[in-house]
Amino acid sequence: MNKFTCLLLFISLSICASIDDNLRAQEIERVTGLIVADGWLEVQANCTECHSTQLIIQNSGNKAVWESRIRWMQEAQGMHNLNIVLEEKILNYLVENYGQKEASRRAPLAENLLPINPYETVN
Ligand code: HEC
Repeated sequence: MNKFTCLLLFISLSICASIDDNLRAQEIERVTGLIVADGWLEVQANCTECHSTQLIIQNSGNKAVWESRIRWMQEAQGMHNLNIVLEEKILNYLVENYGQKEASRRAPLAENLLPINPYETVN
């Protein structure tokens, strides 16, 4: 095998490995739609008696946000208390997999790329 073929083989193997990692990182459980990662079974067992996992999946937040949601469901919706170890496991799963999102809007256009403003500007 010449050097070039060898390099080509190495590059394609690296690409395959990284694609495989990405796929594994996003394994989705078929029935609940939850990301399969440490803690997903606890979420399935404790968070699906009142509503579907879709409510969870479409939400996001840091630990304080997720904790406040759990408190709200406990205070207002009759959700059972979770022991500290279990709650920590669930919170870590939620933050890790449905954490605070980066801003999803694109950056605004530069002023020189904007159409001409036909209106008088204020100030
Ligand atoms: C005792 C019932 C109950 C349990 C158990 C429960 N929830 Fe809820 N949850 C509710 C209700 C009721 C709502 C409001 C539903 C609606 O708005 O239609 C809700 C709403 C939510 C929302 C949406 C909040 C928003 O601001 O839109 C999220 C996220 C959520 N729950 C996550 C969880 C998680 C995570 C767990 C497990 C740790 C859980 N829920 C367990 C009753 C429960």
